[in-house]
Amino acid sequence: MCPTLPAPVPESETDLLARIRVHGAVPRHIAIIMDGNGRWARERHMPRPFGHRSGMKAVRAVVEGCLDAGVEWLSLFAFSQENWQRPETEVSALMSLLEEYIAREASELREQGVRVRVHGDLGRLSAPAAAAVERVMRDTEGGDKLGLNLFISYGGRAELVRAARLLAIDVQAGRLTVDGIDEAAFRERLFTAGCPDPDLLIRTSGEQRLSNFLLWQVAYAELYISSVLWPDFGRLALFEAILDFQRRDRRFGRVTA
Ligand code: IPE
Ligand code: IPE
Ligand code: MG
Repeated sequence: MCPTLPAPVPESETDLLARIRVHGAVPRHIAIIMDGNGRWARERHMPRPFGHRSGMKAVRAVVEGCLDAGVEWLSLFAFSQENWQRPETEVSALMSLLEEYIAREASELREQGVRVRVHGDLGRLSAPAAAAVERVMRDTEGGDKLGLNLFISYGGRAELVRAARLLAIDVQAGRLTVDGIDEAAFRERLFTAGCPDPDLLIRTSGEQRLSNFLLWQVAYAELYISSVLWPDFGRLALFEAILDFQRRDRRFGRVTA
C-alpha cells in the first residue's frame, strides 16, 4: 500500500515575509484598487456599507504588511469620482467611514511613521470629511517609514486634465515655455509629484480593469489581479502578491540580458 503524503502545510505570513526578505527586491511603491466590499456584504446577506466597514480592517492589515516588508509607498483607491453616482445612502456611509477611519487610526499611523496624503477632488467632500483629511495630513507630516496616498473623489483623467491646466497657467504667466513641457514637467503637476511610479498594481475581487486609477503612473506597473474580495485581503494576500512580483521579469521595453 502506498503511504499517503501529508497534506502540504500552508505557508504562514512569517514564512512568506522571510522569503520576500531573502529575495530582496521589494516593490518600492504598491498601488491597490480595493474592490469587492459590496459583494462581500451580499454574500453575507448584509447591506453594502457593512462590506465597506469590514474593508477598513483590510486597510490596517495592508499598511502593517507594507511596513513589515519595507515598502516605501502605498497608494489606495478608496473612492472614485464615478463613485459619487452611487445611491446617496452608500455615499454618505462611505464618507462617515472615512471620517471614522481617520479619527481612529491617525495617532497609530503617526506612531508607526506613516505619512498620509489624500488626493482627489477634495472640494466635493463634506466639511467634516474635509476637516478630517486636513487633520490627518498635518498630524502625520513627519512620518518617514511609509508614504500612504489615499485617493478619494479621484479620477485619473481628471488628474491629467488638472496637470494640463497647471502647465497652461505656468506658460501663460511666463514661468514655462511650450518647449519646456516634457514628461518631467507633466509629472511634477500630478498629485503624486515626488513619489516614484507604482511598481505593482493590485486589484482585488477579480475585476480586470483600471477604473480610471493612476492612468499616467501605472504605465509600467506589474499588474496583479486577486480574486479575494477586499475585506478578506490581508497580510497573507499582500505577501503573496509581493512574492509574485518578485518572480516577474521587468523589461521596460528592453531585452533581458
Ligand atoms: C470597493 O468595493 C469600494 C468602493 C468602490 C468605494 P465596491 O463597493 O465597489 O464593491 P463591489 O465591487 O460592488 O463588490
Ligand atoms: C473602483 O472600484 C474604485 C475604487 C475601488 C474606489 P469600482 O467598483 O467603483 O469600479 P467599477 O465600477 O467596477 O469599474
Ligand atoms: Mg466595485
